[in-house]
Amino acid sequence: MTGLEYTKPATKLEGYEFFRKVLGSPKYVVAPMVDQSELLFMEGVRKPYRDKNFNIGKGEEGGPGDRPLIVQFCANDPETLLAAAKIVEPHCDAVDINLGCPQEIARKGHYGSFLQDEWEVIYNLIHILHKNLSIPVTAKFRVFSTVEKTIEYAKMLESAGAQILTCHGRTREQRGQMAGLADWEKIRAVKEAVAVPVIANGNVLFHTDIETCLAATGADAVMSAEGNLYNPAIFCPSSIASTSSTPTPAPSTWMMPFDTGLHVPHTTLALEYLSIVKSLATPTSPSAVKGHLFKLMRPALGREKDLREKMGKVKVVKGKETEGWEKYEEVVLELQERMLRDATAAESCTADELVTIDPSTGLKILPHWLAQPYFRPETAQKLAQVRVNDKKTEIAAEELQNGEVDPVDDSIIVGKRAASERTPEPDELAKRVKLTADLTS
Ligand SMILES: Cc1cc2nc3c(=O)[nH]c(=O)nc-3n(C[C@H](O)[C@H](O)[C@H](O)COP(=O)(O)O)c2cc1C
Repeated sequence: MTGLEYTKPATKLEGYEFFRKVLGSPKYVVAPMVDQSELLFMEGVRKPYRDKNFNIGKGEEGGPGDRPLIVQFCANDPETLLAAAKIVEPHCDAVDINLGCPQEIARKGHYGSFLQDEWEVIYNLIHILHKNLSIPVTAKFRVFSTVEKTIEYAKMLESAGAQILTCHGRTREQRGQMAGLADWEKIRAVKEAVAVPVIANGNVLFHTDIETCLAATGADAVMSAEGNLYNPAIFCPSSIASTSSTPTPAPSTWMMPFDTGLHVPHTTLALEYLSIVKSLATPTSPSAVKGHLFKLMRPALGREKDLREKMGKVKVVKGKETEGWEKYEEVVLELQERMLRDATAAESCTADELVTIDPSTGLKILPHWLAQPYFRPETAQKLAQVRVNDKKTEIAAEELQNGEVDPVDDSIIVGKRAASERTPEPDELAKRVKLTADLTS
């Protein structure tokens, strides 16, 4: 099949043994998200790119504090994939293959879900890693339109050597305005059909959705992407958490228990996030930082438009990054003051009184000073639809729909993104999946 052969170590942990002993049986898994998975960990076969983005020299990425770590690749050529995987092999715990990306960039690059009909290629991609790496290979995929085909596909992935399967319960066609709901029934069928651990992905907006998903699918763990971006505390149950960034005094409404899980004030999370960015020796991509801040504080930025604009204008200059992070901090602190003002004004209200229901989804909307999921507005969906023939805009709209850009004001963002902020080219698309510890244990 290939000219590249390496010596496979005598023993390597597989399936559940790997899941338990190396990953620690995680129940909660942070999804791979291009340009949004810090430490920004992208690997490629080209050395300059690798040195810039996979900074093992600083001892952080791939280091003891960054494990367990699974590095994800998209690929369509087994030998190239193996050569790239060999580079990351000493620095991570497994290599994942992205078989789910439905975006235009994946169609052009011929990877992700656009390989879904080429089972031999997929088999070879997985098998070459299985045979030649000392660490396991895993796969993340989308379902087919029928349960039968989905099961057959999952079994093929398993037989090729995948040691964990992450099943995103949406089909390749369910993207953008057609995203709709993930099918947990299909995930359940996959779980029942294979012997390796299965991670369920899709439809998790609130903490409470996690248990519902585990019960409905029988999966070993739940993966969250967007829910986690908008509320990084999504894996925490509802309880009041006090953090170093909590201002004192704060009104009782600042941190309240809700039955949907833990919703910390987003400015608190943003300040903590920025302090981590500042503390890292490894450079963080400015576009990733901006993306995170816009998503975190989205519930308030639509109201506080001057601050949204101020944040949009922050420029992070190479070599003077700390100044850039401090400018962001200034905006966050200003927003925090306004949020404290609003929380104080609502101090006589109970948690129930502060919750409203989104008329189009029936989902709960929490007070605007709290981190919470984002339900895509119809406008963003229409935007993608009407401009579907304009390829440039389609990609931007697609990114918008996938939460990759600031969704606060889609009319401003679409068509205006800087090239540096766009989704990286296919060969840059190696990235990591960070497995979080079970935060409740
Ligand atoms: C910003 C963003 C970037 C993403 N990048 C990747 C990626 O690089 N690889 C991948 O397999 N999936 C990627 N996804 C898809 C997610 O991992 C996940 O499968 C999808 O968002 C559904 O999960 P959710 O309902 O929890 O959001 C991305 C999603 C988002 C929102």
